[in-house]
Amino acid sequence: MTATLPETTARATARPPRIALVGGTGAVGRTFLELIAQRGFAFESIRLVASPRSAGRTLPVPGGTAVVESLETCDFDGVDLAFFSAGTPLSAAHAPRAAAAGALVVDNTNAFRMDPASPLVVPQVNGDLLARRPESGIVANPNCSTIPLARLLKPIQERYGLDRVTVSTYQAASGGGQSGIDELRADTAARLADFSAPAPEDSKFGPGLAFNVVPAIDKLLEHGGTLEEQKMRQESRRILDLGSLDLTATCVRVPVVNGHSEAVVIDVQQEADVRELTTLLDAQEEVRVWREGWPTPRTAAAEPDLVHVGRVRTDPENPRRVLLWLVADNLRIGAALNALQIAEKAVAHGIVGGSR
Ligand SMILES: NC(=O)c1ccc[n+]([C@@H]2O[C@H](COP(=O)([O-])OP(=O)(O)OC[C@H]3O[C@@H](n4cnc5c(N)ncnc54)[C@H](OP(=O)(O)O)[C@@H]3O)[C@@H](O)[C@H]2O)c1
Repeated sequence: MTATLPETTARATARPPRIALVGGTGAVGRTFLELIAQRGFAFESIRLVASPRSAGRTLPVPGGTAVVESLETCDFDGVDLAFFSAGTPLSAAHAPRAAAAGALVVDNTNAFRMDPASPLVVPQVNGDLLARRPESGIVANPNCSTIPLARLLKPIQERYGLDRVTVSTYQAASGGGQSGIDELRADTAARLADFSAPAPEDSKFGPGLAFNVVPAIDKLLEHGGTLEEQKMRQESRRILDLGSLDLTATCVRVPVVNGHSEAVVIDVQQEADVRELTTLLDAQEEVRVWREGWPTPRTAAAEPDLVHVGRVRTDPENPRRVLLWLVADNLRIGAALNALQIAEKAVAHGIVGGSR
């Protein structure tokens, strides 16, 4: 395991960026604020932007407070870096106007992930794409389950070659935002009191998530797969630059508050040696391989900025089939941390206003 220090302030910039955080009151936005403080990301100012419901509230931000602005009426003049995590339709409508005003946008939603003018970036995998400002002014942050998977597939592809990837996810309630966390807590309390309690009205998770698992995340598509599963395939292909990668996902919501897990089966082109594979994965930036026991969302939470890997093995009947288990904090690695690491690299490359 190697740790990467923030590159942010290491290189001289004319001045630190002025930040706008759209969705700054949500689960990802609040995590982002925590990470800015923890990683010492240098900034000149932070504006919080959210819905009209939150507009006017004064909330803490690193170094002070900010009055929440409404996205509908806010302008992005003078903003160098705009982070969007308020939902796909809102990013589609408003991120281009932030980019047009000169901001580098880092977008956490599905709006631009397949847009050729907007790179889809996992800094540890294809961070070199941040060497120049994207044509659209927007950098897309991949899906929360795709990011940790791509970080492990990259070295496996380079060493053994990839034939096929089959993944089953076990995704936490926080992937559905703060309201997902709130619903799981309330549903769990209600069912503990009365196991026949009805599912929450308008549950975010269909039949309700407490004491349950739900094999459908995001929209159901015509072919019977879900949008979440399609995102994992399409985004992995784009990030790894493997246009025809054969990747199949089954995405399942589980009653965990935070931290996504994935059971991954990888068919590789050359026979794999487990000891060598373990060493290879452990040498990746911010990856920890558990040689004893295995990670779970609870145990991995002690080191939330690492991708945790366990149960690394080959199929006893097929040495070209690798199997592993991974756990990663979806709010951090799957969203806010990846976005901040994009910003750190973008600043280091001088493509953010103030550093240009
Ligand atoms: N949660 C994850 O693990 C995760 C991972 C990767 C990507 N994402 C993506 O990140 C985005 C936000 O996720 P989240 O988990 O932070 O959700 P969340 O907790 O529900 O927060 C949603 C945020 O969007 C704001 N918002 C809602 N309607 C708005 C409007 N009409 N105008 C302006 N702002 C509005 C909310 O502001 P108010 O407080 O004013 O309502 C809040 O700040 C989603 O697109 C999600 O798909 C989430």
